[in-house]
Amino acid sequence: MPGDRAVDCTAGNGHDTLFLLEKTAPDGFVHAFDIQASAIENTRKRLENACIPPSRYRLIHGCHSRIADHVQPGIAACMFNLGYLPGALHDITTQPYTVIKALERAISLLKPQGIITVVMYPGHEAGRHEMELLLEFVRSIDEKRCRVMHLLNVNTAKISPSIIVLQKI
Ligand SMILES: C[S@@+](CC[C@H](N)C(=O)[O-])C[C@H]1O[C@@H](n2cnc3c(N)ncnc32)[C@H](O)[C@@H]1O
Repeated sequence: MPGDRAVDCTAGNGHDTLFLLEKTAPDGFVHAFDIQASAIENTRKRLENACIPPSRYRLIHGCHSRIADHVQPGIAACMFNLGYLPGALHDITTQPYTVIKALERAISLLKPQGIITVVMYPGHEAGRHEMELLLEFVRSIDEKRCRVMHLLNVNTAKISPSIIVLQKI
């Protein structure tokens, strides 16, 4: 919503960061994290090309598990798009235990009715393992704290991405 604060926990090539900046325009603010300098640079270029004022965002070259060191409570949305940076080395990828730490902290930073989305890629072994661990974690969240949904295609031959959506109560 206009004026909201939001977080992109996996900036990558900046598509989701730009999406959040568009949804919070004209005066919202977005924090975006990535552990790869090249991802931070790609995101910066995308935002500059889209003429987003730098006063509306902060790009953090670091791990999303440190989210609470950089972001004040009261955020409206937080996005995770797991896996590796498209077009880069596949060995730098999200790690389930780090994502769980970041998720736990992001839930604490959410305002009531705020939303977290996590896009997962179970089409390969590491992605399937990551999804299983994350599902185990979100199933354990107190229903009085968050509503949790898991969305997935059920009529495709190929295993497609699936999404966890959490909403703070
Ligand atoms: C699938 S890509 C994200 C795509 C991105 N959302 C976009 O719109 O282009 C996943 C990204 O997560 C980043 N990543 C992996 N582990 C991370 C961590 N611990 N903290 C922050 N970013 C991480 C990777 O470097 C990679 O750029």
